[in-house]
Amino acid sequence: MHVIPVELGTRSYPIFLGCNIIDRLPKIYRSLKLPLRAVIVCDANVARLHLKVLVSTLRQCTVATTIITVPAGEKHKSLETANKIYSELIKHRHTRTDALIAFGSGVTGDLAGFVAATFRRGMPFIQIPTTLLAQVESAIGGKTGVNHPSSKNAVGAFHQPKLVFSDVQFLSTLSRREIICGLGEAIKYGYLDKKVFAFLDRHIEDILRKDLDILEEVVLRCNAMKATMISEDERETDTTGGRAVLNLGHTLGQALEVLSNFRLHHGEAVLIGLRWELLIAQRVGIVQEKDFARLWRLLSRIPFKPGLQRFSRAALLKHLYSDNTKARFVLPRSIGDVITTASIDKKVMSSTLKELLKH
Ligand code: GLY
Repeated sequence: MHVIPVELGTRSYPIFLGCNIIDRLPKIYRSLKLPLRAVIVCDANVARLHLKVLVSTLRQCTVATTIITVPAGEKHKSLETANKIYSELIKHRHTRTDALIAFGSGVTGDLAGFVAATFRRGMPFIQIPTTLLAQVESAIGGKTGVNHPSSKNAVGAFHQPKLVFSDVQFLSTLSRREIICGLGEAIKYGYLDKKVFAFLDRHIEDILRKDLDILEEVVLRCNAMKATMISEDERETDTTGGRAVLNLGHTLGQALEVLSNFRLHHGEAVLIGLRWELLIAQRVGIVQEKDFARLWRLLSRIPFKPGLQRFSRAALLKHLYSDNTKARFVLPRSIGDVITTASIDKKVMSSTLKELLKH
């Protein structure tokens, strides 16, 4: 089992990562002196597959656990669902000293984390992610939130967990689609680091067939990088890079998610966004051709054909320009070296989008 510390002074926490480690949770829970009363928030799919094992494990270290099940999917990451969770917490007389455990996907983590940040002015939060995307990325770093009908993640808070517990055994039940979504976030780390790129390049087929040893290594490498970035720039205030480079692929990605009415899942949309930023970097002449080709080839090996012809370029550009928070781009110069910029000519955006939408 690996332990990756996220160093944030009084808000520091460990990430525990391994395969088949659920039996170790009670000891970890007790050693961190986490609350004896706990609430588990999960979606119906995770409840069906994994809830029994988590509840019986937690029984060894908690005195009472409430289960709150929410509908799966980004559409339900809303104030309305958050409100239903608040009602359940009130009904079961939970207080701000009880723990709230997000058990499941990135959507569950963002939503439950937001509730933990706001209910009774904040309760201790625990992340037990069960998807590749959540283990690689969203369970770490304390970004929590819900969507506003016209803007993704518009309402939220930074609220760091007390513990992230990632058992890659949970990944064995994921669909290929979920693995591809996780790859969207993992390949982002390949843009940022040569060794991660080389590892993904060597093992992409192993990842797709859910080799758990390889998946553990992917999560480990990405988590180690993210832990350092979060420690250095917790609230994404570093304008020269910092945590903001993790928004690679997200500028277009989030627009596509919204315009597809969330039929495109987050990781899929990020994969498309990664392609677009690569095309922009090529068009403005900042990416080395050799690295452009290597990144493009890696992305092309993922069996994901989004059928982008259905998206209107005008609608995408309108969406990108209507939300100032999305106007920044992260562009690769070479593998392991990116820049963030807000000054991309509209003509370049438009012509590269045209090229992208052909695929
Ligand atoms: N997912 C981007 C971040 O955590 O900053």
